[in-house]
Amino acid sequence: MSDSQTFLFDGVSVPCTGRETIAAALDRAGIRMLGTGQGDCAGRYFCGIGACQACLVSVDGARMEACLTPARSGLQVERIAPVSS
Ligand code: FES
Repeated sequence: MSDSQTFLFDGVSVPCTGRETIAAALDRAGIRMLGTGQGDCAGRYFCGIGACQACLVSVDGARMEACLTPARSGLQVERIAPVSS
């Protein structure tokens, strides 16, 4: 895979290698607040294994864990608002 892939995060182009998750690519780009979730770890890349749900983002319109979702060129990734209780 090429190292020149990019995806969009809230409209900003983020490079990715095609061998990493969305969270890893965002972290490498210096983007650590992924959303506005709830709780102590809200919106951050926290557990890295899909357990905390803190890294939920919208990927092409679907709610996905950024720490589990492979980054690839052309994805439209957006922060999501917390679900109100
Ligand atoms: S960082 Fe915990 S589910 Fe992604």
